[in-house]
Parts: sequence; C-alpha cells; structure tokens
Amino acid sequence: MSDVVLRQMTGADLPSVHRLETVLFPEDAWSEGMLREELAEQPRTRHYVVAEEAGGETGGEIVGYAGLAVAGGQADVQTIGVRADRRGGGIGAALLTALIDEAVRRESEAVFLEVRADNDGARRLYERFGFGRVGVRRRYYQPANVDAIVMRRMLHRRPVGFSREM
Ligand SMILES: CC(C)(COP(=O)(O)OP(=O)(O)OC[C@H]1O[C@@H](n2cnc3c(N)ncnc32)[C@H](O)[C@@H]1OP(=O)(O)O)[C@@H](O)C(=O)NCCC(=O)NCCS
Repeated sequence: MSDVVLRQMTGADLPSVHRLETVLFPEDAWSEGMLREELAEQPRTRHYVVAEEAGGETGGEIVGYAGLAVAGGQADVQTIGVRADRRGGGIGAALLTALIDEAVRRESEAVFLEVRADNDGARRLYERFGFGRVGVRRRYYQPANVDAIVMRRMLHRRPVGFSREM
C-alpha cells in the first residue's frame, strides 16, 4: 500500500480502468461508455477514486478503483476492485475508506452495496467495515444465477442542534 496513492478518477483514466474492469468482472463488466456516464455525474452525485502505483512523473499503473453514488441521504457503492496481484495489501480497505469518508462528507445517512453471495473475500471486507446484511436479491447475477446480498452501514450523524459543549 505504501507505493500506491489514491486520487480522484478522471476521464483520462477510463481506458485503463475499463481494461481492469473487464478482467475483474468478466461476466458483467461495464462498458467504457457506462463508466464515462458515471464520471459525467461527478462530482454532483458520484465520487470515483483510483489507486495508482506511485511511479515517476507520468504516474504509474492503476491497480484499483472504486465509485460511490449519492442521492437523497443514501450512498451506494457502485463498484470496487483491485488487481489480483495487488490484493490482500490494504488497497481495497483504503478505497472503501475513501468512499465512506465521502459519504460522511456529503451527510449520507447510510451506505448500501450489493455483493455476490459467493464472493467471500469482499463480504469479509465489508463485514470488517461494519456492513450488515439487510436483504437478498435472488438470482440477481446472470447467467451465473447467483444471489446478491444487500448490505448496509449506517453513518451516525449528530442530531441537528446537538452540542457537545452544553
Ligand atoms: C474485494 C477486493 C476489492 C478487496 O481488495 P483488497 O485490496 O484485497 O482488500 P484488502 O487488502 O484491504 O483486504 C482484503 C481482505 O482479504 C484478505 N486477503 C489476503 N490475501 C488476499 C488475496 N490474495 N486476495 C484477496 N483477499 C486477500 C486480507 O487479509 C483482508 O482481510 P483481513 O484484513 O480481514 O485479513 C478485491 O478482492 C477484489 O478486487 N476482488 C475482485 C472484485 C470484486 O469482487 N469486487 C467486489 C464486488 S462487490
């Protein structure tokens, strides 16, 4: 993780991000156009970050990325992924932290996400971050026919008018 920096995703990152997307999600990768549409909503309702290897003046390779959608007090993790050879080193945790921090900054009440029922690694990461299961979408992922588990983490906000200094 020490050789990786997080920064906001830009349109220039899309070819690299899309290449990684097709490797990470071979069954249901988003097209580059779909990713571009997401970025078009940034910063209004979206926040996308990349994890980039710190390398020279031109920057290094993108080894992970994640995106958040925020609307009406609710935030949703749209996507999160780390290149396979860089997993287990805290990059996923750093990306998820960046999304949760942004949801807090935007005063969301809760963060939701969907995860494949058979994705044990990702589910462990989410549980460690305080996400709890709130529902299931049966056979959501096709053609694999796998359920989606819906998870939520509440974000505790101080009630309006409350002051610690009272
Ligand atoms: C889920 C994902 C983003 C996590 O990224 P990551 O950089 O491995 O995350 P971290 O290193 O912060 O933590 C992952 C957890 O798995 C453990 N782990 C160890 N080695 C690992 C490995 N080779 N691969 C995956 N996880 C590993 C880590 O130790 C950590 O658990 P712990 O802190 O409780 O011990 C990554 O596995 C991924 O991109 N998966 C494929 C895409 C995907 O499924 N995305 C989620 C869709 S909902």
